[in-house]
Amino acid sequence: MPINTEFSYRDGVMACEGVSLHRLAEQVGTPFYCYSTAVIARQYRLFAEAVVAMGGGSICYAVKANSNLAVIATLAGLGAGADVVSEGEARRALAAGVRPADIVFSGVGKTEQELVFAVEHGIGQVNLESERDLEILSAVAAARGVTMRVGIRVNPDIDAGTHAKISTGKAENKFGIDISRAPAVYARAAALPGIDPVAVAVHIGSQLLDMAPYEGAFRRVASLVHELREAGIPITHLDLGGGIGVPYRGETPPMLSDYVAIVARTVGNLGCALTFEPGRFLVAEAGVLVSRVIDVKRGATKTFVVQDAAMTELIRPTLYEAYHPILPVVQPVGAALETVDVVGPVCETGDFLATDRALPPLQPGDLIAVAMAGAYGAVMGSTYNTRPLPPEILVSGETWSFIRQRQSLDTLIGLDRIPDWLPRPRND
Ligand code: LLP
Repeated sequence: MPINTEFSYRDGVMACEGVSLHRLAEQVGTPFYCYSTAVIARQYRLFAEAVVAMGGGSICYAVKANSNLAVIATLAGLGAGADVVSEGEARRALAAGVRPADIVFSGVGKTEQELVFAVEHGIGQVNLESERDLEILSAVAAARGVTMRVGIRVNPDIDAGTHAKISTGKAENKFGIDISRAPAVYARAAALPGIDPVAVAVHIGSQLLDMAPYEGAFRRVASLVHELREAGIPITHLDLGGGIGVPYRGETPPMLSDYVAIVARTVGNLGCALTFEPGRFLVAEAGVLVSRVIDVKRGATKTFVVQDAAMTELIRPTLYEAYHPILPVVQPVGAALETVDVVGPVCETGDFLATDRALPPLQPGDLIAVAMAGAYGAVMGSTYNTRPLPPEILVSGETWSFIRQRQSLDTLIGLDRIPDWLPRPRND
């Protein structure tokens, strides 16, 4: 079964658009990430159409989902701005060609240096999450004689109905300002120089398959906007965050039309400019992680397919109990399936990409594609066990290009320094 039209079997071998993943593996080695431009473009257009149906707004791609410069540049070329959460991500967005005015700087716990960066680079909007942030940004901006557009992220205490580790809008989560305290915080912000608190920002969580939680969250935001306006604080912008989920398990995908209807009936009549921050929706389905089977170990109770990608390449299965479809790169003949654990070589029991998965028989040397890995895949990679970061490839039609080289072991180990007081390493 193909993953989608852009990743399907051609003459029995899985291709990304017009490029064979088998040939790519021969050329670049394994493991590697491979992304389809066509999927990114399709997802962007779907979201952009939804935004038009809501009467318009800005799409600021949540760069954290996949911050490769080429991915950001692809989305910027389609018209996206960027949502960033660190100076590093802001620098990536700028380097990829996003205009500063189209960047929203979100995130909990910004350093003064990051706020200085935002001011000095003319970032379009800064979303703040505490009174301390407001005071520092005010001082930094006023000292430079500029006024920054500011959003205050509110925590609406809504259960997004998603995995606990990616739920952000409950009172017990670290994010935002408790919505009941928001009027006092806006009043304080309005009195400070250098900042213009004209936006309300909210993001309740990620991988929402049910759109209903948005209804409650956006209703609370709408009543806050009314309350603030009555208090003389003219809210003109709403940042509704991201969070739209993708069907990793082949679930019925969320209907963007439901999301559109919720936005329209909750905040649609406030006359505010809307910003959206989709991450996963735009890039998850655009990427696969390709790896090669090293060994098939038959244990007493389980069979382990050990392959050369690990939790270091894709941590989502072990961190969030996430499910990613796994497909053999060469189309299997026959219908026999075996239930196996797909694991990596890292010395951790938690190092798996799938457990109890029914897959066609696999042999050492076979290639597999871990699908829907374009979001929160490569960006969450680590070098644990001194494993170099894998390369990333972008495909467009019949063409492909490295968009990140494989990290070399020399580069990785070369970051370390042995202090003078330790014996010199013997290199003989
Ligand atoms: N805006 C804000 C303020 C966010 O915190 C996030 C994600 C987004 C937008 C984008 O959300 P999306 O549309 O991608 O759901 N590593 C986790 C996901 C963490 C999401 C963090 N915030 C995972 O692999 O599932």
